[in-house]
Amino acid sequence: AIKAVDAMEILDSRGNPTVRVFVQLEDGTCAQASVPSGASTGEHEAVELRDGDPKRYGGKGVLQAVKNVREVIGPAVTGMDCTRQVQLDQTMIGLDGTANKSRLGANAILGVSMAVAKVAAQSCNLPLYAYLGGPNAVRLPVPMMNVLNGGKHADNSVDFQEFMIAPVGAPNFAEAMRYGSETFHALKGLLGKQGLATAVGDEGGFAPNLKSNEHACEIILEAIQTAGFAPGEDIALALDPAASSFHENGVYNLSKSGQGIKTSAEMVALWKSWVDKYPIILLEDGLDENDWSGFAKLTDALGDRIQIVGDDIYVTNTEFIRRGISEGTSNAVLIKLNQIGTVTETVEAVRLCKLAGWSFLMSHRSGETEDSFLADFAVAMDGGQIKSGSVCRSERLCKYNRFLEIERELGAHANFGLYDF
Ligand code: PGA
Ligand code: ZN
Repeated sequence: AIKAVDAMEILDSRGNPTVRVFVQLEDGTCAQASVPSGASTGEHEAVELRDGDPKRYGGKGVLQAVKNVREVIGPAVTGMDCTRQVQLDQTMIGLDGTANKSRLGANAILGVSMAVAKVAAQSCNLPLYAYLGGPNAVRLPVPMMNVLNGGKHADNSVDFQEFMIAPVGAPNFAEAMRYGSETFHALKGLLGKQGLATAVGDEGGFAPNLKSNEHACEIILEAIQTAGFAPGEDIALALDPAASSFHENGVYNLSKSGQGIKTSAEMVALWKSWVDKYPIILLEDGLDENDWSGFAKLTDALGDRIQIVGDDIYVTNTEFIRRGISEGTSNAVLIKLNQIGTVTETVEAVRLCKLAGWSFLMSHRSGETEDSFLADFAVAMDGGQIKSGSVCRSERLCKYNRFLEIERELGAHANFGLYDF
C-alpha cells in the first residue's frame, strides 16, 4: 500500500520549472517520476498548472501543483494498493473535478500517476515495460529522430517544427540508433561545410537558417547518403510541421521562411508534392488543430501512402480521437501522457487506436527531464514507433538509452520495427 507521496519543483530541459513526485510504499519501496512540458501545445490539452507569480520564473513556477500533490492528492491516495492504477487515476480525476484537470493541475496528477506505476512495477519485481505491457511487450519501436528543428522549437528560417529520420531498415533498435547517430553527424558535417549553424534546438536537432523548408529535406537526404545509407530503404523521413503554430486567421503563414500564405487546400497540395518527391512515411499535424475538414481531405489524398498523424487536434483525448475515427480525419494518433494527464487515460487512447486499426506514435515533449518512463511505456503499449528527439541532449538520449537496455534485457526475444498497417 502507498505510505507517502511527496513532490518538489525541479527544472526541465529548457530551464523551466516542472513537477517531480516521490512515492513510498509501506514496505519501503520508493519511486519517483518527473513530468514533461510542451511548447507547441494543443488548445485542448489538460492544464499544466503554473503559479503565474511574475516574481518567480516569469510566472512559470509550479509550487501550487507541488502543494496539490502534497496536501490534496497525497492524503487521498495514501493506503491505496499501488497496483490499482485505474482506481488511483480515477480517484485523482474525481478529486480534481474539472474536465481539463485545471484545479489540481495535470502536471500534479500525471506525476503521481507515473510514480505509482513505477513503484508498483518495483513491488511486483517487474521492469516497468513488463508490468504495464505484460509478457507480450517485447517490441522495440523505430525511433523517429528529430535531427532538424524549426517552428516554435528554434529561432531560424524554417517554418516546420520537426524533420525526423526513421531507420525503418535497421535490423534492431541498437542498429537503428547507430543509423541515426551516423546520419546526425554526417548532417553536422554538411551544415558546417555550407557555412550553416550547427547549434541545436529544443529537441537536439540542428536549427540552421536554411534557404527554404524543402532545403531541410534535401540536406537530410544528402546526410543519409553521406553516412552510407539508402534513403527510403534504410532511413525514411517523418515530419511534424506542427501546423497550428503557423496557422492564423484561417490561413497558413509560412513567414519564417518567407514562402508566403497558403490555404488549407494549398497545404494539402504542398504535402502531396512532398510525399511524391521525398521518402516520407509519416506526417503529423500537417494542418491546424481546428481544420478537421482539411485533415480529412489530407487523409483522403495521402492516407493510403503514409501515416497521417493527429497531435494537437486529438490531444490524446478519446473524445477527439472518436470524432476523428468517425470522420476519417487521419489514420494515426500522437500519444503524449501529459496532454491528457493520467496513465490510465493514455492507455485508453492507445486502446481506441488499436480498435480502429489506426497506428499511434508515442511521444516525448519539447521540454523534457531525465525520466525515462516514456521508453518503458512505449514498449508496453507496443506501437512500433516513438519520437524522443534527436541523437544528442541527455533528456532525449535517456529514453533511447533505456530502449537499448530493454533490448539487451529481452535478448533473443526482442522484436523491432513498425507494424504493417
Ligand atoms: P511540443 O512539441 O512538446 O512543444 O508540443 C512536440 C510536438 O509537437 O509533437
Ligand atoms: Zn506534434
